Amino acid sequence: MRVLLTGGAGYIGTHTILELLAEGHEICVLDNYSNSSPEALKRVRSLSNQDFKAVEADIRDRAALLTAFENFRPEAVIHFAGLKAVGEAEKYPLTYYDTNISGTLVLLDVMTQTNCSRIIFSSSATVYGEPDYLPIDETHPLKASNVYGRTKLMAEQIISDWSHSNPGTSCVLLRYFNPVGSHESGRIGEDPKDTPNNLMPYISQVAVGRRSHLEIFGSDYETRDGTGERDYIHVVDLARAHVAALGYAAMHGGTDVFNIGTGRGSTVIEMLAAFSKACGTELPFKVVPRRAGDIAACLADPSKANRLLGWKAKHDMNDMTKSCWKWQSQNPTGYTKKNQEKE
Ligand code: NAD
Ligand code: WQD
Repeated sequence: MRVLLTGGAGYIGTHTILELLAEGHEICVLDNYSNSSPEALKRVRSLSNQDFKAVEADIRDRAALLTAFENFRPEAVIHFAGLKAVGEAEKYPLTYYDTNISGTLVLLDVMTQTNCSRIIFSSSATVYGEPDYLPIDETHPLKASNVYGRTKLMAEQIISDWSHSNPGTSCVLLRYFNPVGSHESGRIGEDPKDTPNNLMPYISQVAVGRRSHLEIFGSDYETRDGTGERDYIHVVDLARAHVAALGYAAMHGGTDVFNIGTGRGSTVIEMLAAFSKACGTELPFKVVPRRAGDIAACLADPSKANRLLGWKAKHDMNDMTKSCWKWQSQNPTGYTKKNQEKE
């Protein structure tokens, strides 16, 4: 299938490209590199030994999108492009609504205009808010409690309404739990531009000496060791879920939603211990007060995706920490010039 990936140069996008190319799909990336680098795509080309087109454009730029769609004629879109920092979204809500919502509106409009009928959308477990029960299945009430979460929830609704009014379209909403880890080569990975907001990239920067210690946000939660528990999913498993979703979209019309997680949880202390084992050093930490807005535990019930997409997470916490460490130790400052690979 010809697949256009908005935001394909980013963390999840680059891993997904590799899985798509391995399955024989033809791809084109559209990205403005606001949170990524062309270096990442260069490495994906080298790892896959395949070439593909990349268009530098903003998702809100209708004319650029139309040209890209007319040239590549995608049969499906995977819509990764967006802003994802929860704290930043509270400070700059309009920027977030503009990119995540206006961007999605422009994309759907161009898809309609060019008869592209399939979309896989990067949603998030954040749409469930504070869980009423665990593990969370797809029928759990939706009550996003921050700006970022609301952009995801609204985008889901917009996509679903678009599909409803356009018979023949297929939409798959994937609600990712906590993506971590890297490709086994260690040549691509997560490369936060500023101080990492998420646990795994923060720990890996402590391990590589860029940060002095981890701050554990609260040790008084009702979990087995008092620290927050999450469902971490290996990014390669997540990437494979997109390939499965494309196959599903080709066979089913309308909108479907799937949780993408493992169903298993790890606490902050367990994650830190696993990472210490992977890098061979005990990593320093301090317990500090809870982070505002955090919840005790968040776990997926992924059985719908297992059943209907024929997809299941295969990698464990060891694979997640080992691959993340490989990426970070080989690229201590990410894709910056210092680490760029020779042609
Ligand atoms: P990322 O920032 O690495 O990738 C997003 C990509 O979109 C980047 O390459 C960025 O340059 C591009 N982009 C941003 N704004 C754009 C714009 N206006 N026009 C064109 N391109 C633009 O993030 P990621 O972790 O790969 O996440 C991909 C998607 O998955 C996002 O939509 C994110 O909200 C969602 N998601 C991520 C997580 C996570 O923890 N990583 C969890 C749930 C959902
Ligand atoms: C995990 C655990 C923290 C950092 C966020 C977004 C969510 C989704 C994934 C995009 C929690 C603890 C963290 C640190 C810590 N993103 N922690 N010290 O909060 O589950 O989800 O990322 O869609 O929308 O909200 O992930 O990695 O930030 O935190 O102790 O320096 O690690 O308190 O228990 P979270 P996270």
